[in-house]
Amino acid sequence: MSYAEVYARWQADPEAFWMAQADRIDWIKPPTRALDDSNAPFYRWFADGVLNACHNAVDRHVAGGRADQVAIITDSAITGTVIRMTFAELQAATASLAGALRDKGIGMGDRVIIYMPMVAEAIVAMLACARIGAVHSVVFGGFAAHELAVRIDDATPKAIIGASCGLEPGRTVAYKPLIDAAVAQARHKIDFTIILQRDQLTCDLTPGFDHDWHAVQQGVVPADCVPVAGDHPAYVLYTSGTTGAPKGVVRHTGGHLVALYWTMKNIYNVDPGDVFWAASDVGWVVGHSYICYGPLIHGNTTIVFEGKPVGTPDASTYWRVIQDHKVRSLFTAPTAFRAIKRDDPTGALIAGYDISSLRALYLAGERADPDTVIWAQTVMKVPVYDHWWQTESGFPMVANPAGLQALPVKIGSPSVPMPGYDIRILDEAGVEMPRGELGAIAIKLPLPPGTLPTLWNAEDRFQTAYLTTFPGYYETGDAGLMDTDGYLYVMARTDDVINVAGHRLSTGAMEEILANHPDVAECAVIGVADDLKGQLPMGFVCTNKGTTRPEAEIVADCIRMVRDAIGPVAAFKLVAVVDRLPKTRSGKILRRTMVSVCDGAEVKVPATIDDPAILDEIRVAVRSLGYGGVA
Ligand code: COA
Ligand code: AMP
Repeated sequence: MSYAEVYARWQADPEAFWMAQADRIDWIKPPTRALDDSNAPFYRWFADGVLNACHNAVDRHVAGGRADQVAIITDSAITGTVIRMTFAELQAATASLAGALRDKGIGMGDRVIIYMPMVAEAIVAMLACARIGAVHSVVFGGFAAHELAVRIDDATPKAIIGASCGLEPGRTVAYKPLIDAAVAQARHKIDFTIILQRDQLTCDLTPGFDHDWHAVQQGVVPADCVPVAGDHPAYVLYTSGTTGAPKGVVRHTGGHLVALYWTMKNIYNVDPGDVFWAASDVGWVVGHSYICYGPLIHGNTTIVFEGKPVGTPDASTYWRVIQDHKVRSLFTAPTAFRAIKRDDPTGALIAGYDISSLRALYLAGERADPDTVIWAQTVMKVPVYDHWWQTESGFPMVANPAGLQALPVKIGSPSVPMPGYDIRILDEAGVEMPRGELGAIAIKLPLPPGTLPTLWNAEDRFQTAYLTTFPGYYETGDAGLMDTDGYLYVMARTDDVINVAGHRLSTGAMEEILANHPDVAECAVIGVADDLKGQLPMGFVCTNKGTTRPEAEIVADCIRMVRDAIGPVAAFKLVAVVDRLPKTRSGKILRRTMVSVCDGAEVKVPATIDDPAILDEIRVAVRSLGYGGVA
């Protein structure tokens, strides 16, 4: 069947389409219907079905003849080690950890935070939670203690599963002190932790509260998979919004598995048994969907990669991993390829490797710039598919369905809407724009299975953040256009969310931190263009009248405060002290105009600006930072 036929089939009868896809998943009690819209806009998919995510990811493969197939390859480019775990071993590991969690009082619906580096045990921890109906919430290791504490207070977990350390190039990151600090900061009190001690740096454990990963599992009776309802939350994953309070995206079990299963062949073009590599981190949605659940439920081997595309040890690492593990499809963020291209501009290093196993490269997480796409095509000699999605959707909204029918690639476009997504371009009044014209990208409700049904503990915020601007539609937060062939072009965010090396960050959250500095009167943080990371945050602070502290000290404080509160992942290193911020006459800071000034783009000075001369002051301040993006 062609893409057009499949999309039309979904459009004609979404209920029948999704019920047919649900057949690919093991159910303890199959659903009698796909969509329950009785409580719209809180849609529920496969709500009366009963299943278990860990069974689908692990046990059914063991029972179905894949017991000895490798499920997880852990490849650490930092320690130089490779560890393979079969589906049978994964089953034993998850059942054992699940048994330990159950013995310590974790049960159906209890939350467990996972704060771990890229080790197979992070996947084991996620699956162990799913096995007993607990709801995991993985927090990315590059976030600081404060961000972890915010998530502890929102998710109110009973336990944290962590590790003693993470490994960054040239630096061992002690995780346990971050966990301890977060536990101390949080108002909500957890019952216990389970800590994986890594050889590179072990940590002290508080008796009775911190439990060693191995010791806590000794003598436990392995836990079986428990039945959960189709709309039981599989996990909560926090993502950045416009304020400092992250949004807890909820994922229901049934829809999640059904949608992911569909994507593995139809988009990523892998068959069960193939090796699939998503070079991301378990702390992001890519890690949830395409390091953990997607490949495993489909019977693929997944790769847990610890390292960077460059510097561990060099720009050939991705080629080495593809060669050594016979990777069929690779998924990463464009920033990774910009990094490789910067270090090895001609792609000479690839000559030393056999990457013939690779069928295609998939890019997402940020805009795929044409230079990078063309470079990757030329060097790797495989199709390069941009695709567009977000934490909220959980799987691609717009993609090239290469396993179904590879459509012509139009560079600059992630291609076409996937079944389930009725994508419209709307103007500010919610009226559909003609083809080719820029507007807000919205999706007609209901969203398909696997997408967020709500936000954790925040039903009102779910509605105001996504459903209020355009009644009847989900607001994606992205702006773009659709061409006459139905190809989408994603151009920019409509809010203050920025994208730094494929990581979604809130400038509002950074402003809240800077505003706490005693010498800062007001501030603005914007995202400026960066050759490597796509965007970088840049802060502007106005100091209080009469401040005597040297500007350099205030700047250093600001950088440290953001790193301490949000974490190194914010990459917040550019701060300018200015006398004034450009504002409208009604006092609104003109952040978008500031971005144009910094990026050297054509500056459309808004008619409502209070004093246009301030833009020149901003230009001078930015030049003084040595920021290369300024014209
Ligand atoms: N634990 C602790 N610290 C972490 C971390 C983790 N899991 N992940 C990142 N950090 C730290 C880094 O050490 C770095 O700290 P520094 O300021 O002291 O150097 C900072 O957070 C920024 O990290 P990162 O965004 O990875 O930038 P980088 O400069 O180290 O590397 C790239 C740049 C492009 C190579 C890197 O971002 C990359 O590999 N991206 C691949 C794509 C990707 O992972 N995308 C995710 C979504 S698909
Ligand atoms: P996240 O929720 O962290 O996955 O970030 C999602 C956001 O990243 C989207 O809303 C977009 O702003 C951006 N994004 C993701 N994929 C793409 C893409 N292929 N092209 C352009 N922007 C993208």
